[in-house]
Amino acid sequence: MRDQFLFSPLTVGPYRLSHRVAMAPLTRMRAGRPGDIPRALNVEYYSQRATPGGLIIAEGSPISEAAKGMPATPGIYSSNQVIGWRTVTDAVHAVGGRIFLQLWHVGRISHSSHQPGAALPVAPSAIAAIGNAFTATFERVPFETPRALTTSEISGVIDSYQKAARNALEAGFDGVEIHGANGYLVEQFLQSRTNVRVDAYGGSIANRTRFLLEVTRSVAEVWGTDRVGVRLSPFGIANDSGEVEPLPLYSFAIHELAKLNLAYLHLIEPRASGAGQAEVDRKDAPTASGLFRPIWPGVLIAAGNYTPASANAALSDGWVDAVAFGRLFISNPDLPERIRKGEPLNAYNRATFYGGEAEGYTDYPRLGVAALES
Ligand SMILES: Cc1cc2nc3c(=O)[nH]c(=O)nc-3n(C[C@H](O)[C@H](O)[C@H](O)COP(=O)(O)O)c2cc1C
Repeated sequence: MRDQFLFSPLTVGPYRLSHRVAMAPLTRMRAGRPGDIPRALNVEYYSQRATPGGLIIAEGSPISEAAKGMPATPGIYSSNQVIGWRTVTDAVHAVGGRIFLQLWHVGRISHSSHQPGAALPVAPSAIAAIGNAFTATFERVPFETPRALTTSEISGVIDSYQKAARNALEAGFDGVEIHGANGYLVEQFLQSRTNVRVDAYGGSIANRTRFLLEVTRSVAEVWGTDRVGVRLSPFGIANDSGEVEPLPLYSFAIHELAKLNLAYLHLIEPRASGAGQAEVDRKDAPTASGLFRPIWPGVLIAAGNYTPASANAALSDGWVDAVAFGRLFISNPDLPERIRKGEPLNAYNRATFYGGEAEGYTDYPRLGVAALES
């Protein structure tokens, strides 16, 4: 049977998945405005991609107004957003799918135009990212220097994660994923380039990992540990991130997370410019999942440039338990079915990734009816 490993069942927390082709979290900047509320177009998009026993990790969802860094990203802090997300989760559950929500705080990757009172974005330290922010009106302007959170403010941010976790439960999700990747707030605390604090949240590896662990525990108080996943990108450089020596930091963080019996660990593999250097080719060097697999006893999901063939190979090697597809799930609403049948995949159009309406969002074609019946 073609791609047999991708189509074997998998237990994630309390859930029995029927296949291992997960949908990666994908920011599409198409929430209803004002209010950044999931709407009918978003329901259509997610229900197109839901499959019986399949896992969708919904896009990064700001946990508070201050957590937001891009326009039209659907939040999880207002009652209308909870109502909107409920329409999405109901649609996914109607076809027997599972859906986790990614809890997101962008930290310094925000812009004052998103912030309450047009304040500066907050971060572990007052160090500006190099690159351009997305303003509330979809303009690109250089990142501002963020304001460093005081020690006492940090517990308030952790409370916002917990409130968002409670909202996600009310919105009918099956679990939550903490966004600890891609240069956003959790990763800004983890990495030494963005965290020069001198309190209990900075300095040593243990201190820099404290925020991640406190957020995880506080979200798990709402959900139980087995319905909470964590996403990390040890070798990523997105949003001006990148740890000089990732191994000691991420070994410690993953070792500590492993004590919590989480639903899963989700690792992003380095892509073209991984680790700030050359691509890490899995023929020559271990991938993130290969490296950290020995210290992660639970379910391991990997993402990053996988094809159906390389995903199947990683599963058969035992390096990962499931593979999350991003761009291919954008352009192939019926991706699991296409992979299972060995059908060709639609190409994606990068120009329509962020913002807009149905074009490049809900209008990618499914397999023809004849193909489906074959
Ligand atoms: C349009 C777009 C939006 C993304 N949004 C998110 C996001 O909200 N949260 C996140 O953790 N990763 C996000 N990513 C990264 C993907 O989840 C995934 O890790 C990445 O695309 C690599 O997988 P792929 O090669 O299968 O696309 C995004 C990627 C793309 C292309």
